[in-house]
Amino acid sequence: MMPLNNSMLITGGAGFIGSYLINQLIVKGVNVICLDNFDEFYPRKSKENNIKSFIASPLFTLIEGDIRNKELLDDIFKKQTIGIVIHLAAKAGVRPSIINPQEYFDVNVNGTLNLLEVMKNHSVQNFIFASSSSIYGNNLKIPYSELDNVDFPISPYACSKKSGELLTHTYHTLYNMNVINLRFFTVYGPGQRPDLAIHKFVNNIYKNIPIEVYGDGSTSRDYTYIDDTVTGILAAIHYLEINTNVYETINLGNNYPVKLSDLIEIIEEITQKKFIEKKLPIQMGDVNITFADITKAKQLLNYHPKVSLKEGVINFKKWYEKKLV
Ligand SMILES: NC(=O)c1ccc[n+]([C@@H]2O[C@H](COP(=O)([O-])OP(=O)(O)OC[C@H]3O[C@@H](n4cnc5c(N)ncnc54)[C@H](O)[C@@H]3O)[C@@H](O)[C@H]2O)c1
Repeated sequence: MMPLNNSMLITGGAGFIGSYLINQLIVKGVNVICLDNFDEFYPRKSKENNIKSFIASPLFTLIEGDIRNKELLDDIFKKQTIGIVIHLAAKAGVRPSIINPQEYFDVNVNGTLNLLEVMKNHSVQNFIFASSSSIYGNNLKIPYSELDNVDFPISPYACSKKSGELLTHTYHTLYNMNVINLRFFTVYGPGQRPDLAIHKFVNNIYKNIPIEVYGDGSTSRDYTYIDDTVTGILAAIHYLEINTNVYETINLGNNYPVKLSDLIEIIEEITQKKFIEKKLPIQMGDVNITFADITKAKQLLNYHPKVSLKEGVINFKKWYEKKLV
């Protein structure tokens, strides 16, 4: 069982999901250490904005550094009493991983291994790993269940996340670490990563830049609103607080896939603008559909996503318009 009064280490805490999570943890009075290297995948300014509302909080410590730096990790665990690591730091994104697979593996696999090793050395027993729906590849059976075979990734990114899950299982077995792998499904909301569809599309529609539509618009994604994802992560933390000998892999999706063509219509309706579309063939590495079976999340975490895509896109649009002025 996890000691409740220890600090939580959030890797990648200056990112989209991490900063929402930290905000909620601070509201609950938790001591949070955020380790982030402000990776150049998207602008540092966005990450500074993500953490600006709590940077001055006495409950918050920012360490700028890289999960690949083992000495730094060792130093952090020596100086702080950490009860749990929530590992969100990663090179994210499917398409760029095809261009630079080496770096994706270096951060997502070797970085994860570093963390697990240092945790083992300092007897830190609780780990939450940010996995991804992409590991289902082009699974024919929908919705995707945690029991499905995920041996067929179709991008280096997916493969690196699957490798991360294999590492967490190894450390659970060897050292009794308590682990929950959370498979996130296309998380969106205000502050979403700029490389992802909703952010990219809204930006383009406001700036009259054509959007690239891959395939015939029938590819579908199970878009999950950030507040629902964070509620799921908090429930996973709680699960580790009250259980022993845990190894679970859990889908955190919305259980409601939306076609690309429908997403385009929804954004047009909400922004009252029209897209300029540039049709392109389907991209290598992109899966046809993501669709989460969330039965397990409901049972173990009492996870019930609440925010509809329309509601979520309205919130995104409001945030985006504020950012423009
Ligand atoms: N957003 C989604 O839809 C989604 C879906 C599935 C899985 N995930 C996973 O969830 C996690 C968080 O995603 P996000 O959307 O918030 O991404 P994000 O890019 O906003 O956040 C990741 C953070 O990790 C940091 N980081 C990257 N490399 C690092 C390194 N070597 N050392 C320290 N920090 C490093 C980045 O600077 C960034 O702040 C990632 O692991 C991602 O793969 C996200």
